[in-house]
Amino acid sequence: MSLPSKVRIIEVGPRDGLQNESHKVSTATKIELIERLGEAGLKTIEATAFVSPKWVPQMADAAKVMAGMKRREGVSYPVLAPNMQGLQAALAAGAKEIAVFGAASETFSQKNINCSIVESLERFRPMVAAAKEADVKVRGYVSCVLGCPYQGEISATAVAEVAHALFDMGCYEISLGDTIGSGTPEKTKVMIEAVARRVPLKKIAGHFHDTWGMAIANIYAALQLGVSAFDSSVAGLGGCPYAAGASGNVATEDLVWLLKGLGLDSGVDLIKLIDTAEWISKELGRPPASRVARAVIAKRAAVAA
Ligand code: HMG
Ligand code: MG
Repeated sequence: MSLPSKVRIIEVGPRDGLQNESHKVSTATKIELIERLGEAGLKTIEATAFVSPKWVPQMADAAKVMAGMKRREGVSYPVLAPNMQGLQAALAAGAKEIAVFGAASETFSQKNINCSIVESLERFRPMVAAAKEADVKVRGYVSCVLGCPYQGEISATAVAEVAHALFDMGCYEISLGDTIGSGTPEKTKVMIEAVARRVPLKKIAGHFHDTWGMAIANIYAALQLGVSAFDSSVAGLGGCPYAAGASGNVATEDLVWLLKGLGLDSGVDLIKLIDTAEWISKELGRPPASRVARAVIAKRAAVAA
């Protein structure tokens, strides 16, 4: 077992966390969420998505979010872009980093971005080149790495193939998404080992949804292989509009707590993060999904009683 000495957290709450909310979240709330996350010490905060508002109405205010948010020194604010139109809009909004998102499942690719896997890679290649020309970094996502809501099992080889294609075209990091959160630690290991044969381990990130309650266990399995970057979402917000029933990402609070227990400093102030989780959950009208946040909030209430 060789745990990495440092772990990077990519906070995806304002994008993955909010994209599936059925009620419109105000632009001001999104901006405040980004600000609070920065204040809590997160260094990478995925801010929004320049996708079609017909497909994902919640992200329709992407340009307004970018215009209204305060950009902190030393913090990056990547945004999703599915095509050249999204890239141009992201550049116009001053994005310094974008993420393209493909899938290891043919059907999910069609449902999510309306094209095949091969077509998506053809679409992304000129985007990556144009982004580089504009001095903008590009991250690549692969969805459905441990199962697909439409096709079921997905082979590790198929995941490795798409991950390699994205890395090869110039994505600086490949985030492996367990979109429906059905993965388990052993499957996670097999999948990561297959990808690591095609993409350097240091360039691999884990993106685990917690639908089946396995996200923290899967992260621990990935850490043991040496993966050192993980996506997470404050309060465990999230879900994908094209993966019915998929719940939120692993909660950032739970990830920070895991890392703390392993002696790995994430640079995140857990108390400020839990305050943020409590605040955004009140805004959305439900308790945080994070077990760590709920434990701390319950303890506070017991002390106050
Ligand atoms: P399409 O319908 O094939 O696009 O959708 P099109 O090029 O034919 O254009 C149709 C209309 O959309 C046109 O408008 C375009 O202008 C507009 P109209 O003439 O009809 O008025 N349009 C856009 N508008 C704004 N921004 C754009 C844009 N592009 C076209 N960028 C498309 C194809 C890719 C656009 C669509 O399928 C789409 O936006 N999909 C995004 C879906 C999405 O955001 N899913 C969630 C994110 S992925 C995820 O959550 C997984 C992840 O977290 C990892 C994991 O968990 O696995 C990343
Ligand atoms: Mg996701």
